[in-house]
Amino acid sequence: MSDKISVLVIDYGSQTTQLILRRIREFKVYCEVISYKNIYSNIKKIKPNAIILSGGPSSAFDIKSPKLDKRVFSLNIPILGICYGMQLICQSMESTVVDSKIKEFGKSKIKILKNSSIFFGLDKKLKHQVWMSHGDEVVKLSKGLNIIASSSACKVAAIESKNKKIYGLQFHPEVIHTSIGKKILKNFLFKISKIKSEWKIDNFLEMKINTIKVQIKEDKVVCGLSGGVDSSVTAALLSKAIGKNLICIFVDHGLLRKNEAEEVIVNFKKYTEIKLIHIRAKNIFLAKLAGVSNPERKRKIIGREFVKIFEKEAKKIKDAKYLAQGTLYPDVIESKKIEGSKLKIIKSHHNVGGLPKRLNLKLIEPLRELFKDEVRELGLKLNLPKNIVYRHPFPGPGLAIRIPGEISRKKLNILKKADFIYIEELKENNLYDKIWQAFCVLLPVKSVGVMGDSRSYEYTISVRAIKSLDGMTADIFSFKDNFLKNLSGRIIGEVEGVNRVLFDITSKPPATIEW
Ligand code: XMP
Repeated sequence: MSDKISVLVIDYGSQTTQLILRRIREFKVYCEVISYKNIYSNIKKIKPNAIILSGGPSSAFDIKSPKLDKRVFSLNIPILGICYGMQLICQSMESTVVDSKIKEFGKSKIKILKNSSIFFGLDKKLKHQVWMSHGDEVVKLSKGLNIIASSSACKVAAIESKNKKIYGLQFHPEVIHTSIGKKILKNFLFKISKIKSEWKIDNFLEMKINTIKVQIKEDKVVCGLSGGVDSSVTAALLSKAIGKNLICIFVDHGLLRKNEAEEVIVNFKKYTEIKLIHIRAKNIFLAKLAGVSNPERKRKIIGREFVKIFEKEAKKIKDAKYLAQGTLYPDVIESKKIEGSKLKIIKSHHNVGGLPKRLNLKLIEPLRELFKDEVRELGLKLNLPKNIVYRHPFPGPGLAIRIPGEISRKKLNILKKADFIYIEELKENNLYDKIWQAFCVLLPVKSVGVMGDSRSYEYTISVRAIKSLDGMTADIFSFKDNFLKNLSGRIIGEVEGVNRVLFDITSKPPATIEW
């Protein structure tokens, strides 16, 4: 754990646990998430100023479902339970939770019934919009607990035990559709728990540099650099802490965007003193990928080859004891599967995970407590250039997963050229920084066209642009017609082998961001 943890979020497997953390960090309050298991001893150890119990997919009355250790109430730390979290509070205090007759999923309205610090500043005369997502409900409250809000379908929409500073909400304040959500969380943090808003990225930087120095001492660290923001910031931070004892390995698999490899090398030479080993491995990767169409197989092949090359190079570095990875907080949360969670692996994301065991190196993940926007802020503090810090995310397997079907050098060249034009147009029209991620996909479909006086029969490029917070969900970015028309004209005019351009209008879910 890195900083004084003001708020501890206990995860019961909700899809929105990450959003709770996000909201709290937005208030400049440091928080972390832990599993519901052993919470009593963990809370005693960490001593947070406030505890939030997340929602979850289980039913409180199911004997096998995760429960709340009652001893937590004796620690006198303010508690807020959200959805399943509220039901657990009630159940632990001998109230009754049942299967609801009317299940609420989506927007609902609540009426505040009682003055309560958690609703401070909210108008009791109005009905307030909230986001509900529950199949169970609390029906009978035990002594000491009071109902403080109801909806038409759910009598116990919020509860409090004022003296004990325990609060519960059946709705989700962390979801933007709860119009009063931020206000409620603020009341809980600042009014009820008396927390100060003082967490800053500068404190994190200073503290992290000191911890890394103490941990690494004179040992050497190997870091896989991809040129993306996460690995770049990891490298810059480590370089600041341990200087020449950091060695970065950049494996160019030939599936990067146009000029990308050169840019990474130039940027790193220009802005840092880091020792960088550049491995050109395009031929190896393309040979292994020849004839492969299945996207999962492509990912696996690329991951395996990457590990092999990285391993070979890392072994040459004498005295290397650590492997650095740019793991972020969402990756940490996602990889901790909670019992009862129905989440399945959608795509096997390729990261350098798996390397430590084989390499016998200890893992160091200096960004594992941060969200992407915080990593970007840290990158700027470390003097990395904006073109690295604000670069759109780029997947480990690179363009291989943006060419559905078999990959060939010809297809790669077409895609690189089209993608380059797209990004250039976005930058020229001041759109690049407004979009979370934008890229082209080369479809394995040829169609008929007419160019000049001739018939053409060429490939199709699909253009994607999305808005997102963290890549977990995404909305499409809406362009003006003229932008798309001009882009289509440029791609078809300048990239040989393309005669049709499509715009992908699918959000995530149901689609994923990559194809
Ligand atoms: P999906 O396609 O899962 O993408 O909606 C979510 C985010 O993750 C990126 N992505 C990957 N990143 N290795 C990576 O390092 C991968 O295999 C991979 N697949 C998807 C994607 O670009 C988006 O930002």
